[in-house]
Amino acid sequence: MRNYSLWDHLILHIDGALSSIQPYSTSTRPSPADILAIEEDDLNKKQRQLSGSLMRINHVGEVCAQALYTGQALTARSKETQHKLKKAAKEEVDHLNWCQQRIHQLDTHVSYLNSFWYLSSLLIGLTAGLWGDKVSLGFLAETEHQVERHLHKHLQRLPLQDKKSRAILEQMRKEEIEHALTAEDAGGIPLPIVIQWSMQGLAKLMTIVAYRI
Ligand SMILES: [Fe+2]
Ligand SMILES: [Fe+2]
Repeated sequence: MRNYSLWDHLILHIDGALSSIQPYSTSTRPSPADILAIEEDDLNKKQRQLSGSLMRINHVGEVCAQALYTGQALTARSKETQHKLKKAAKEEVDHLNWCQQRIHQLDTHVSYLNSFWYLSSLLIGLTAGLWGDKVSLGFLAETEHQVERHLHKHLQRLPLQDKKSRAILEQMRKEEIEHALTAEDAGGIPLPIVIQWSMQGLAKLMTIVAYRI
């Protein structure tokens, strides 16, 4: 059996991930909007555009989560941490697919810069992993906390009529809270405040760009 080097793994992951940001048919769980059989409400043009832009941002967030956790898994020290990170990335695939499906229903597009978001996040994930497993798990926990707070804000901004997107974001928020707790229980340590601010800054930049393209 062939022994794969870090480089081989990297190429395989990038290849797999770039294809994973395309179709949404591989979702393992149906969208919460489908499970709850929520009917499409009549959204006017402005509401539809707002929902579409917000869901595009959330989709980019999930693309970044895929890349971060994949990068961290590649540089994780222990098999256990590697397993936890791969599991986290797998669970985020559902979020990614739910957002993508909703974006299409809202007649808009995913970010044109998804490959860029993916590759930059992969680099950040690889670097985080090099700092050791406790830092890496702390990074995962901090990412999930920030995503959860961000989803909370989006739930307030979403048009009230858009119950389908709301159902998706509410389920995602619940799961991001669980992901953060899992990472903390597994030994993740709090990150220095400067790192937390830098992460918030990068996320802010991403949301501004992804809102438009
Ligand atoms: Fe997620
Ligand atoms: Fe998550």
